[in-house]
Amino acid sequence: EKAGYKHFMLKEIHEQSQAIIDTFRSAVDLNRGEIRLDDLNLDGKGVAGIRKICLIACGTSYHACMVGKYMIENMCRIPVEVDLGSEFRYRGPLLGQDTLLVVISQSGETADTRAALQEGLEKGAVCRAIVNVVGSSLVRMAGGVIYTHAGPEIGVASTKAFTAQLVALYLFGLYFAVASGRLDRQELSAYIQELIELPRKVSDILARSEELSGLARRFMNCRDFLYLGRGILYPIALEGALKLKEISYIHAEGYAAGEMKHGPIALIDEQMPVVVLMQKGPLFEKMLSNVQEVKARGGQVIALVEGKADERIGPPENRFLIPESSPWLAPVLFTVPLQLLAYQIAVLRGTDVDQPRNLAKSVTVE
Ligand code: F6R
Repeated sequence: EKAGYKHFMLKEIHEQSQAIIDTFRSAVDLNRGEIRLDDLNLDGKGVAGIRKICLIACGTSYHACMVGKYMIENMCRIPVEVDLGSEFRYRGPLLGQDTLLVVISQSGETADTRAALQEGLEKGAVCRAIVNVVGSSLVRMAGGVIYTHAGPEIGVASTKAFTAQLVALYLFGLYFAVASGRLDRQELSAYIQELIELPRKVSDILARSEELSGLARRFMNCRDFLYLGRGILYPIALEGALKLKEISYIHAEGYAAGEMKHGPIALIDEQMPVVVLMQKGPLFEKMLSNVQEVKARGGQVIALVEGKADERIGPPENRFLIPESSPWLAPVLFTVPLQLLAYQIAVLRGTDVDQPRNLAKSVTVE
């Protein structure tokens, strides 16, 4: 059942190109150059009535919401709020008929996410769900759904469900942008093309898993890790840190790189690996200055770099190159090596990768 893989987690990491294809296949109509989200149950008129979007989830799915904010606000020019399922109902959220509330969940059963959706229903918001498990509670409660077709996820640490959620959010952003007149056909077809090229890029990264094994061996005994990202990769820094702590039990923190000076820099010494996520474009030079600050304090930099290697980052054995893509899809590509690194470190440490201590696959109590 593990199809020759040592763990479900590794199998599921490797299933990601297929999960991405399966998630966009039914939504992308190549002949007509359209995005169709039939189960979402939100037509042009429905979209026109929306003034604000709330994205809500827990854990890894919450990180998908954070990425979704960057995508949707930029594609659709509509305000997007992001909340943790466990916090949402206690902050007296301002909701009404012009609010679109979207909950995101692999299992569709997470108690706090359900409670957030219930809050939305009671306050009259338009409620939808992005879910992996067909027929789950959230699907039954919401007025419509986008399914992530990741297939069953057995490993407790979420991997393929997460990248499929990012793809579902991309599809949703494009759909909403077209429906609200923010995107023309030509722009849409360029975005679709980027999506179609994504699975092959994921496979390319998977085929290079071995490149990470030296890093895993060098850093497997560290006590703490720091992960830094900016912009749309900030949530991916959080996700990378979460994966490592869940399965290897190494303490790891994700930070927005610009916050480094405001506290975490105090932790940096020779013992501290700092994983930096370097996206090409306007934030690259800013990340580079973070790299220099870390090095100046003797910290060890592990750099994931989009596009070409840059000599200023450090020696090749500390770098992993990420294929170029659209800025909205880069989060998918940066996630994969972070999953692999966490996995390899956990295996070297001999932990129970698929069933980490104290964790449950589906958290159905608050
Ligand atoms: C992390 C992880 C958890 C879940 C969280 C939400 O690897 O798996 O943080 O993401 O419990 O679960 P779902 O998405 O089922 O609502």
